[in-house]
Amino acid sequence: MKYRWTLPTFILVCLSLGYLLFQGLPLLDSDQTITNAETGTKTHKILVWHWPFGNSFNLDGDFCKDKFGVPNCIMMDNQFRLSEADIVIFHNRELIQGQQRLPVNQKRPEKQRWVWLTMESPANNGDVKPFAGYFNWTMTYHQDADIYSPYGFMVPKESETHEPLESFIPKDKTDLACWVVSNFSPHHKRTTIYEKLKTVIPIKVYGGAVNKRLDDQTLLPTISRCSFYLAFENSVSRDYISEKLWRNAYMSGAVPVVFGPTREEYEAVAEKDSFIHVNDFDTVEELGEFLKTLAADRERYASYFNWRRKYTVEITHWVELACKFCPKISSMPPHKVYENLDTWQ
Ligand SMILES: *[C@@H]1O[C@H](CO)[C@@H](O)[C@H](O)[C@H]1NC(C)=O
Repeated sequence: MKYRWTLPTFILVCLSLGYLLFQGLPLLDSDQTITNAETGTKTHKILVWHWPFGNSFNLDGDFCKDKFGVPNCIMMDNQFRLSEADIVIFHNRELIQGQQRLPVNQKRPEKQRWVWLTMESPANNGDVKPFAGYFNWTMTYHQDADIYSPYGFMVPKESETHEPLESFIPKDKTDLACWVVSNFSPHHKRTTIYEKLKTVIPIKVYGGAVNKRLDDQTLLPTISRCSFYLAFENSVSRDYISEKLWRNAYMSGAVPVVFGPTREEYEAVAEKDSFIHVNDFDTVEELGEFLKTLAADRERYASYFNWRRKYTVEITHWVELACKFCPKISSMPPHKVYENLDTWQ
C-alpha cells in the first residue's frame, strides 16, 4: 500500500523539524535558568544560606557533578548570590538560635523556593512559629518531606547473595547489649526502658552521659562487639529514625533493639527482620528474656542478618541528597507554602 501524505502528517513533520532546529539554539528562559541545548535539562542553582553547625563543604568546581555525578546543578553558599538561586536551603538550628536570619527584607524572586532543613524531631526543633508562611519545601527524614532526607537507606543489592549468615556477624561478640547515650535525661521514655532492662540483662553504656565518649574511630568497633544495640530515640515522633539505627547498629553489625515510632514506620524503611522493636513485647522484662534466649540460640540470632544477603545500608549526607534532588526540581508542584511548620511535624 502506498503511503499518502495527509495534511495532519505534513503539519506534524513541520512541527518536528521546527522543534529540532529550535532546540539547537542556546536558550535562556524567562526565569533566567540556563537551558542546556543538547539535553533540554535546566541548570538549577541551590544556595545553602548557612551550613548546619558550621560544617561547610568546599564547593569549588562543579561540586554536584564532581562529587555525586549530578550535572546541571550548581550549589553555592555565598549569601550575596541570593537573587540567582532557584532554591535556598535554611537549616533550622541556626535560625531558632538567632545566629542566622531569613532574608525577609530582600526581594524574593517569584519562583525561588525556600527550603526548611532539619534532621531533628519536633521536640528538638524549638519554636518554629515565627517561620510560618515563609517556606515552600521541607527537607527532613519525614516520609512526606518535599526533599526526603533520611539518616540512611537500605539499598537492594544487584542480586541476592548466598554467603553463610555467619559471615555477616562480627566476630568477638563479648557483650550482650550496649547503649551509647550523650543526652541523658530521666524524663526520656527511653531512660525508663533502660532502667528496667538493665535489671534483666547486662547493658554496657557508653557516651558523654557516662563520661565514656566514643570517637569516630572507636564507635563502630566497640558496638560491633555487642550482640544487641539499643537504638533508642530521644523522642518518639513520626518517622524519626536516626543514625542510632542506621549507623550505630546496622553499620557495626549489632542487632538493633529499637524504640521510636511504630514498627510499621520502621518497616517502611527497613527490613522487618533486621531489628527488634521494644513494642513487640508487653513488658520490658519479656524483652530482656527474649534477648537472652536469642543470644544463646546462634541460628536464630543469625536470622537477624538474613537481610544482608539482599540489602546494603547507605548513610547519605543531606548535601548529596540536595544535589540528587536537582533534576526533580522542574517536576515539583509549581506552588506550595508551609503556613504552619508545627502541624507539618
Ligand atoms: C514560596 O513561598 C512564598 C511565601 O513565603 C510564596 O509567596 C511563593 O509564592 C512561594 N513560591 C512557590 C514557587 O511556591
